[in-house]
Amino acid sequence: MNNENNRGQWASNLGFLMAAVGSAVGLGNIWGFPYKMGANGGFAFLIVYLVLVIFVGFATMLGELALGRKTGLGVIGTYRMLNKKFAWVGWLGFLSGFFILSFYSVLGGYTLRYAIGFLMELFSEGAGFGGMGSGEFFGSFIINGGANLLFHGIFMALTIVIVMGGIASGIEKFTKIAMPALLVMLVIVIIRSVTLEGASTGIAFMFAPNFSAFSEIGFMKVLKTAAGQMFFSLSLGMGCMITYGSYLSKQENLEKNALIIPIADTIFALMAGLAVMPAVGAFMSQGVEGISFGAGPGLLFVTLHQVFSVGMGGFIGNLFGFVFYFLVFIAAITSSISLLEVCTAFFIDSKVQKGQVANRKKITIIVGLVIFLIGIPVGLDGLGSGVAGGATIDIPAVVFGMDEVRVAFDCWLDFYDMISEGVFMPLGAILMSVLIGWVLKTNIVKEEVEASDGIKMKAYAFWDFCFKFIVPIGILFVLLGQLDDFFGLGIF
Ligand code: PHE
Repeated sequence: MNNENNRGQWASNLGFLMAAVGSAVGLGNIWGFPYKMGANGGFAFLIVYLVLVIFVGFATMLGELALGRKTGLGVIGTYRMLNKKFAWVGWLGFLSGFFILSFYSVLGGYTLRYAIGFLMELFSEGAGFGGMGSGEFFGSFIINGGANLLFHGIFMALTIVIVMGGIASGIEKFTKIAMPALLVMLVIVIIRSVTLEGASTGIAFMFAPNFSAFSEIGFMKVLKTAAGQMFFSLSLGMGCMITYGSYLSKQENLEKNALIIPIADTIFALMAGLAVMPAVGAFMSQGVEGISFGAGPGLLFVTLHQVFSVGMGGFIGNLFGFVFYFLVFIAAITSSISLLEVCTAFFIDSKVQKGQVANRKKITIIVGLVIFLIGIPVGLDGLGSGVAGGATIDIPAVVFGMDEVRVAFDCWLDFYDMISEGVFMPLGAILMSVLIGWVLKTNIVKEEVEASDGIKMKAYAFWDFCFKFIVPIGILFVLLGQLDDFFGLGIF
């Protein structure tokens, strides 16, 4: 089943692609991209986004995949092997995985709750959401600590079960079924969504080119939003693609893979927009109460719930509600398994390097359990609604060594998100480009791409230039943008 060193390997390149695209396509595509695109210039935003994908996303993706395959290790092992002084960069990625997954799993639990809710409504009215309205149900659900932990636990348990199965017989096997299923469900929802009366309002909101948004919002702000979105959406900067790359055979073409993943992720993001925004626009223009364009949890769990339960309503509404939330759940779990694998791989590598046989099942269960525990505060504070012991996390100035900065987060999710997406991930990626581009020189990536006879790196000059110059600047931008968002520094 495994290759000789007991770490595991993808059975096929297609299987690898399903897993990697599965990692990339997640909540970020569904609740972030459509609204951000609409609110930041529509088609004009898309152009900025695509430019970033080509110059920063592709280059970083190829760098991560090549490093992972070169060392055959997870994120910590990879950095340690490349340069002892950079080993801590691997730890940044590892910790990002921990923190992201601990809140991602709580949100994944929400998607599961909503899918089950609509399924139950199909059979008996009021059974799924207790006869409550969208806002009311959401408000009562997020402060229900027990229910939150239950679904967080179920979501985490499912993630563990898949990762326990290993690379080819766990992750690959699951994503090879899940990703095509996701695509089919998405197409079904899109067809329903774009054929609704008034759908064009939503299509116009998302796609209409509005270049004046650049001057109204400020081009730097738009750029920052696009860069941050791209980075998270492509699962970059925390070693996910390093880890997945480490299970790839030397025969496979890394350059081609590094191109396919961002293209597929962007197509999925646009499709998610076509599934969501036309439906929102349709019922908004029909005057259904409580429906307007938005982003984040509000869009996914309040507005869209209203779209299905009131806008569409009845049997059809429940049916499409179920299909939609189930597809979001699938998108979330194919991302969460990649996050867990980043953390699990470190312990497996440590065993293997000591010449011992790694017990993947045991390691996965323990790591998953710890992540579940770290996620508990996220599940209990009601997204900061201040109820059910809603915590305010006050980070004193000492932590930052700056007297004037005293930061209060009113929700654990934001706090974890700030540590991981806000700081560790962009920092990790900047350091990767400095390490590879400047300390070790980029030909180590070229050599790895060309590891197998007959494969020549076609875009080396382009990649080299992007990786050395555009990636660090682009990601510094992400870092500043995130810090600006979280701390309200007013840079942009
Ligand atoms: N790319 C995923 C999304 O869009 C999130 C993710 C980030 C997954 C980092 C793995 C690593 O939701």
